[in-house]
Parts: sequence; C-alpha cells; structure tokens
Amino acid sequence: MKLALIGFGNVGRAFARLLEAKRSAYPFRVTAIHTARHGTAYSEKRLGPEPEFGPAAASVDEFLDRARADVVIELTTLNAETGEPALTHIRKAFERGSHVVTANKGPVAVAWPALCEEARMAGVEFRFESTCMDGAPVFNMVRNNLPGVQILGFTGVLNSTTKMVIGAMRRGLSLDEGIAEAQAAGIAEADPAHDIDGWDSAAKTAALANVLMNARITTMDVQRTGIGGLTPEYVQGLAERGKTVVLVSRARGTEYSAGPEEVDDTDLLASIEGTSNLLLIHTDLMGTLGMVSISPGVEQTAYGVFSDVVDIARTI
Ligand SMILES: NC(=O)c1ccc[n+]([C@@H]2O[C@H](COP(=O)([O-])OP(=O)(O)OC[C@H]3O[C@@H](n4cnc5c(N)ncnc54)[C@H](OP(=O)(O)O)[C@@H]3O)[C@@H](O)[C@H]2O)c1
Repeated sequence: MKLALIGFGNVGRAFARLLEAKRSAYPFRVTAIHTARHGTAYSEKRLGPEPEFGPAAASVDEFLDRARADVVIELTTLNAETGEPALTHIRKAFERGSHVVTANKGPVAVAWPALCEEARMAGVEFRFESTCMDGAPVFNMVRNNLPGVQILGFTGVLNSTTKMVIGAMRRGLSLDEGIAEAQAAGIAEADPAHDIDGWDSAAKTAALANVLMNARITTMDVQRTGIGGLTPEYVQGLAERGKTVVLVSRARGTEYSAGPEEVDDTDLLASIEGTSNLLLIHTDLMGTLGMVSISPGVEQTAYGVFSDVVDIARTI
C-alpha cells in the first residue's frame, strides 16, 4: 500500500520511524512526502525515515497527482478555527480517490459531517484516531466495540500544557514561568495562547462531540474559557483547601464546554499528570467508561496514525 505524507514534522518523522521498525510485518511504503519549507520527496520504491528532499512541488494538486497514493496522511500544523490547510488537503485527496488519515484535529472539529459525506461519496475511508488523545484508541474502541450504544456525553482532561502551568502556579511560579517550563519540556505549542486560551481543548471537545455524539458543531460552538485569568495566589489558596483547578472538556446533551473547574485533589480529574490524559464516556447501555493514557508522546500519536492505516488496509 502506497502512502503519501503531507507534513513531516514531529509526528511525520515519528511515523516514518515506526514504519521502519514494523516493516517486516506491515510492508506499507511511504513513496511521497510534501512539506511547507523543506521541499518534496518522491521515490518509486520507498522513502525511509531520513528522506532526501528535492524542490517543493508547485502545489498540493501537483504533489497528489504525482504521488497517486492509496492513503494520504495529513500531518500539517493545526488551525483550530478554520481547519486549514488540512481541510483543503483532505478534500483534494478524496477527489483523487485516496483514503485519508490525519492527526490534525482542526478538520474534525470544524467540518466533520461534511468530510464524512464527501468520503462516503468518494468511496474512501477517513480516519483520525490521533486527534484527541495522542493515539489512544477512542474512536476505534467506540466504532468497533460499542455497537448499539448511544453516547450521552463525555468528560475529558485533554490538554497537557495547562496542567503543567497550573502545577507550576501551585509551586508559586507565575503564568509566564509555567508556560516557559512547559515550552522547555517540549509540551507547549510555539504559540502557547493556543493552549492557555482553551482553543486546543475546545477543538478536541468539538471533534469528540461530532464523532461520538453526531453533534454537528464547530470549535466556535464550544463554550471556551482559558486559564489566563488564574493567579498563583488563587491556585495556592485552593491547594490549602485540598483542591486544584483543571481545564475540563465536557459534553452533555447539546451543551459543550472547555474551561477551568475546581476539583478536589483526590478527584479522578486531578489525578493525571504531565502529558497524561483522560476521557470518560457517558453512555446509555454501558454506564460510564474511561480511558487513560499515561505520559503519551509523539510516538503514541504516530501509533494512532499507524493503527488507522492498518485498519484501512484491513477494510479495503
Ligand atoms: N506533536 C504531537 O504530539 C501531536 C499530538 C496530537 C496531534 N498532533 C497534530 O499533528 C499535526 C502535526 O503535528 P507536528 O507536531 O508533527 O507538527 P510540526 O512538527 O509543526 O510539523 C508540521 C509539518 O507540516 C508541514 N506543513 C505546514 N503547513 C504546510 C502546508 N501548507 N503544506 C505542506 N506542509 C505543510 C510543515 O512543513 P515544514 O517542515 O517545511 O515546516 C511540517 O513538516 C498537527 O496538526 C498537530 O496538532 C500532534
């Protein structure tokens, strides 16, 4: 099966390393890679984890026409409000009859119902396991293992940067010092406002609500509150009362929110640290089910992409 990658940053490179490690059992071939500034690479046989890039394709159309891939893997930078440029890339791949896998939550957050319909019309698969929990099998678990179940809502702690910043405030550091710590740990986005202002959590809330609850919403429909207004004094005052504050993603009925909530230190929502994340799914037939991923990194995100490719290979 021929794979074409659009975007070859942290996730793309980790995915290429994973394919190399699992090559004998899963002989997928990356034959084309396109980036924004590093150029484009093609190979008739296969590109390894350290490909040599040539001049950039003049456009994504030119790239996709030459790549003629079975699966296009979209791994470009996130825009939570518009879903671009990934949204356009995904549509161009569908037009060419390619299946699509993405780790980019933007398109799922802003255009999921339309993309599902377009994929169905094109007779291709559209998968996105890594968009919300760094590769933990949320969507595949629901799709494959919960037949007949209606998802009534969910509760998630899905953003690492805010957890680290609140932890730093609890130690008396300022918001900016907490952000600097998260950036030094390689967790925060280059533009930390994306995490601090709640955009990342709101986009994940919209993506989960769209897929799990058929909500047909966008990031803008999620009631979003960031943690920019919190102070070390407030967080330390809570700690003295055995409490903390957590940025929680919630969906219940037609209410969707992402914002800071006060919880007891002993609460399940307060119990996960660092990059770890947690999702509780509230259902009609199975009560509340949970998933926790402990300290996931880019390798787990790459694994989510890999699991989607394997699932597509099984399906077609
Ligand atoms: N990192 C994680 O742990 C993680 C976890 C879950 C989800 N995600 C999502 O996965 C996606 C990729 O993340 P990442 O960490 O790999 O990002 P990254 O390191 O910033 O890499 C982004 C890649 O996209 C390319 N790119 C950007 N705009 C492009 C365009 N218009 N056309 C072609 N290529 C373009 C960049 O090209 P250049 O190399 O030339 O700049 C780069 O190779 C993002 O949507 C992110 O939100 C990441």
